[in-house]
Amino acid sequence: MPDKQTPKGNKKTDSLEQHVEDSQGQFLTTNQGVKVNDDQNSLKAGERGPSLLEDFILREKITHFDHERIPERVVHARGSGAHGVFRVAEDLSKLTKAKFLTDTSAETPVFVRFSTVAGSRGSTDLARDVRGFAVKFYTEEGNFDLVGNNMPVFFIQDAIKFPDLIHAVKPEPYNEIPQAASAHDTFWDFISNTPESAHMIMWLMSDRAIPRSYRMMEGFGVHTFRLVNAEGRSSFVKFHWKPLLGVHSVAWDEAQNISGKDPDFHRRDLWEAIENGDFPQWQLALQIVPEEDEHKFEFDLLDPTKIIPEEIVPVRRVGTLTL
Ligand code: HEM
Repeated sequence: MPDKQTPKGNKKTDSLEQHVEDSQGQFLTTNQGVKVNDDQNSLKAGERGPSLLEDFILREKITHFDHERIPERVVHARGSGAHGVFRVAEDLSKLTKAKFLTDTSAETPVFVRFSTVAGSRGSTDLARDVRGFAVKFYTEEGNFDLVGNNMPVFFIQDAIKFPDLIHAVKPEPYNEIPQAASAHDTFWDFISNTPESAHMIMWLMSDRAIPRSYRMMEGFGVHTFRLVNAEGRSSFVKFHWKPLLGVHSVAWDEAQNISGKDPDFHRRDLWEAIENGDFPQWQLALQIVPEEDEHKFEFDLLDPTKIIPEEIVPVRRVGTLTL
């Protein structure tokens, strides 16, 4: 069946076809599945009304309408996503029993969403900010979410500080300025009172915070995770995404220009690249630490404000993501 949205058709849209439903043979129903034969005339007492509250179809339609604006996410509201596939290049069964990381013939469908953190849904793509890099693997054994950012560390060591961090980075409370920007007074106040954020603020104020393209960003799972193999033996792992196009940024002056001329710059770039068949790719890469080595480091392996230096634990490329 040709997809109206993507008239060109290609191998990827064909492979998505199995997940698409057409409207043939379907009919309008209430949320509970009762067929609706008329959604334009409500039940009335007599010809001129009044409308009757017992008309549950009227009540449901109006209630649904009244609630159809879902509040935007408190963080990562502005984002762009794409479907793709993941293939593992080598059998990792020494490390894990997850099939999508051991079966080299498996092609796992994925959905990736890139985002900024602080701005509202309609804000510019080129804000100086962390970028989200969230990957959902639709594996045969269930969905696996690898939620990441384009920077390898995080601001805080304890989740209880997250609301304070986000309140601080959001616009100033008395005038709701500035939109989608990290470097402003309330944020500097938080940062200067939170020494553990020193590492992350270096990344945030670097060129990483103004990427040239989503296709040219690294991704990091940030936290240290655990892989478990079929024998129940576990290893600690840091997840990395390495873009095949390399890591590139724009200059701050360029970022400000682009924000005015094309606030959808990153969304457009991703859309056009994929439409043109220029499919973005990343390699999945792992830093592995055997469980028994957990305490051999000068820092806590579970501290998300620290990286594991790549010269101590090398980054091993194990598979490819294609959007
Ligand atoms: C205390 C720690 C954290 C808290 C409380 C927190 C909270 C949140 C919340 C509430 C959302 C919005 C979810 C929604 O409305 O659907 C979100 C989204 C997100 N977070 Fe976090 N977060 C934390 C740490 C992190 C870290 C360390 C990373 C990076 C590894 C991260 C990456 C993301 C991404 C990429 C999204 C957007 C996901 C998407 O595109 O669907 N967060 N987070």
